[in-house]
Amino acid sequence: MSQKRRPRVLSGMRPTGPLHLGHLVGALDNWVEMQDDHDCFFAIVDWHALTTDYADPSQIRQNTREIALDWLAAGLDPERCQIFVQSDVPEHAELHLLLSMIVPISWLERVPTYKEQQEALRERELNTYGFLGYPLLQAADILIYRANQVPVGEDQVPHLELTREIARRFNHLYKKTFPEPQPKLTRSPRLPGTDGRKMSKSYGNAIFLGDTPKQIGKKLAGMLTDPQRTHRHLPGNPDVCPVFDTHKVFSSDETLAWADAGCRSAEIGCVDCKGRLRDRILERVGPIGERRRELADHPEQVDEILAAGAETARRVAGSTMVSVRKAMKVHR
Ligand code: TRP
Ligand code: SF4
Repeated sequence: MSQKRRPRVLSGMRPTGPLHLGHLVGALDNWVEMQDDHDCFFAIVDWHALTTDYADPSQIRQNTREIALDWLAAGLDPERCQIFVQSDVPEHAELHLLLSMIVPISWLERVPTYKEQQEALRERELNTYGFLGYPLLQAADILIYRANQVPVGEDQVPHLELTREIARRFNHLYKKTFPEPQPKLTRSPRLPGTDGRKMSKSYGNAIFLGDTPKQIGKKLAGMLTDPQRTHRHLPGNPDVCPVFDTHKVFSSDETLAWADAGCRSAEIGCVDCKGRLRDRILERVGPIGERRRELADHPEQVDEILAAGAETARRVAGSTMVSVRKAMKVHR
C-alpha cells in the first residue's frame, strides 16, 4: 500500500568490469525480484573502485556505464527502483567523514577482508587511509538511506556487522537516527566458469551478459568436462563436470536427468550435452544481451536514468544528513 511501509533496501557493486552469469544468478536475479515489494536503491560504487584502482582509474568511468547497461538489461526497472552512481551523491562522502570521527581504527583493522584483500592484491600499495576506510564508506552507503536490508553475498557479512556496530554507536552517542541493517543473504548457486573454477572476470573464464549468442556458444564449446571422458564412447561422471554443474543452474529437472543418465551410459556425447546447455543459457540471457545492445545505442537514455536515480537518492540522503548534522552539532 503506502510506499513508506515497504522495507528499504540498498545494495551496490563496484565498477571493476562488465557483469557475467555469476552476477546474474548470484545477485541480479534477487535484486530484480525485490523491486516490487521493497523500496530499492542500487548504487554503482565508483569511489569503492578507487580504493584499489586509484593508480590507474582509467577504466572506472567506462565500467560504470557497462554496469548500468547490465543492470537495466537484466531487468532492474528505473520505474520501480533507484539506480545511481555513488559519486553523484556527495552526501555519502560527508557521512563517511562524520562517521570517521566515531569509529575506532581497530574496528576497521579487524575486518577480515582488510588483510585478505591486501594480501590478494600484494602488487598494489594498499596501505592507504581510503582502503582502510572501505567498509566505513560502505556503512555510509547503507546508513544514509536508513536501509533495513542489504542483499549481499556471504563475504560481505563482516561489513554488515561493522555497519550495525557503527549505527549503534551513533545512536548511543547522539540520537536514535539509524536502523540496524540486516544482510539479506542471496541464495547463490555455485556457478563454475569455463575452466571449472569459480566464474570470475580475472580468471578469463566468464560468460558475460553482453556476450553474443555466437560468443556464448564458442565459450561453452571450449568448456571443461569430466577430464576422464576423453572419448565419445567412454561413459562420464557428471558429478565432476562443470558443464553439469552449470546445467543445475539453468536447466529443468528433465534435462538434468537426461544429461545425467546419458553421460553415465555414454548415450550422449559432451557436444550434445553442451548444445542443450547452450539453448537453456541463451533462453535466459539471449534477451538480456539484446536489450543491452539496444540500450548501448542510446547512451543518453542511460544518462537520464542515472541522473534521475541520483536526484531521488540525493533527496533521501540529504534528509538523513540534516538529522546527522543536527545530532553532531554541525550546523550549516
Ligand atoms: N563491498 C561490496 C562488494 O564488494 C560493494 C558495496 C559497496 C556494497 N557499498 C555497498 C554492497 C553497500 C552493499 C551495500 O560487493
Ligand atoms: Fe559433462 Fe555432459 Fe560431457 Fe557428461 S556428457 S562429461 S555431464 S559435458
